[in-house]
Amino acid sequence: MMKTLFQAVAWAVAALAVPAQADEAAQMALGKKLFTTTTPACALCHTLKDAGAEGAIGPVFDELQPDAARVTRALRDGIGSMPSFRAGLSDAEIAAIALYVSRASRQH
Ligand code: HEC
Repeated sequence: MMKTLFQAVAWAVAALAVPAQADEAAQMALGKKLFTTTTPACALCHTLKDAGAEGAIGPVFDELQPDAARVTRALRDGIGSMPSFRAGLSDAEIAAIALYVSRASRQH
């Protein structure tokens, strides 16, 4: 009886893991798209090889390699001369960009 229960839980966890991966791929794709299409575009001010971005106003992400939490903070609150994106982006969009920048900046 307990064993069956554990098996059921294990299957449920395994079943959940697949959509989570698909979700992440979708988030990465959305983040990459928003990086160059958001107004104002991150690419305007930041360099990130993976996005083909060569902006020179803010830090170069390939060097800074910010983690997702750092990107999220910058987008929510703004930092220095960088404006907050809270008004223009949903939480889901901010999360997608944060995941993308943190991953893509470490891809080399
Ligand atoms: C108008 C130019 C501009 C745009 C557009 C812009 N940034 Fe920035 N960003 C900056 C500048 C300048 C800084 C450095 C601010 C400072 O440290 O004073 C910065 C800093 C950052 C940092 C580092 C924060 C830290 O903790 O040091 C991150 C992460 C970041 N930007 C992400 C983004 C993302 C993602 C986008 C697109 C959604 C974006 N930025 C759009 C100018 C910009």
